[in-house]
Amino acid sequence: IDPTLDLHAEINRLRKERNAVILAHYYQEGEIQDLADFVGDSLDLSRKAAATDADVIVFCGVRFMGEVAKILSPSKLVVIPDADAGCSLEEGCRPEAFRAFREKHPDHIAVTYINCSAEVKALSDVIVTSSNAETIIRQLPADRPILFAPDRHLGAYMQKKTGREMTLWPGSCIIHEQFSEKELVKLKVRHPQALVAAHPECPDTILGHADHVGSTRNILDFVLASEAKEFIIATEQHIIHQMSKAAPDKTFIPAPGADGGCSCSNCPFMALNTLEKIYLCLKNDAPAITVPEDLRLAALKPLERMLEMSR
Ligand code: 13P
Repeated sequence: IDPTLDLHAEINRLRKERNAVILAHYYQEGEIQDLADFVGDSLDLSRKAAATDADVIVFCGVRFMGEVAKILSPSKLVVIPDADAGCSLEEGCRPEAFRAFREKHPDHIAVTYINCSAEVKALSDVIVTSSNAETIIRQLPADRPILFAPDRHLGAYMQKKTGREMTLWPGSCIIHEQFSEKELVKLKVRHPQALVAAHPECPDTILGHADHVGSTRNILDFVLASEAKEFIIATEQHIIHQMSKAAPDKTFIPAPGADGGCSCSNCPFMALNTLEKIYLCLKNDAPAITVPEDLRLAALKPLERMLEMSR
């Protein structure tokens, strides 16, 4: 690729030419969020992908998010900047193992977090994101136990909130798993006025210190509405880009890892996406997401149920 190329101009030209929409998760680099047509959390992005009239969807997030877009919008070309942008939650929940887990608990309703493969979705009763999990779980028949996969921390948090009996898949997100309770307490001592906002993928030890728990968009709404001036943010740190843009007078501190620093809250999968790769995927129509039609239809069912139940 020509180093003198004006990537912004080229991406803008191609997005018009191709009638493409660029969707980005809050965990993307600031420059990618700024370039996107729409920035959101997993639920907002799914809704956007389902409703768009663009011909091409460029999904700047991780692979399973592009896969969701393709499942919901099969007639669109869905491209992602980097095919290696995986997710530790997805990796930790293989379809064969998940099938065995389900077979061991035949009377359970399988409620599955959207951070998983199409194959695991296809084996699930309903999909949830961190912003609609509680709403959806509260609508499920009270006499049926729940199988929750693959994030055990979100599952445990939902168990606590809803009082529902759940069997949890033992998975977690490598980012949220690494926040250190000890370092967080030390940081709170240094910033006694700061409020802690945490994503429910954090372990219970971290959530116990949170003034607010919610999805990325929900945390963003919380810090913008709050009177407080200082916040400690316990989720992937790039959400802070939107916070600082919308509230430049407030201070946002990323929650620390065991070394006291914030490098642990930088998702290595999300970080694979770059402007150069966005340009290339628009130019080459690749890497494109494909999902075999029988698998797509099976995964669509619990996703549609999710959209229906989170209205
Ligand atoms: P939300 O987008 O629901 O906040 O979840 C974050 C996440 O885990 C993305 O992988």
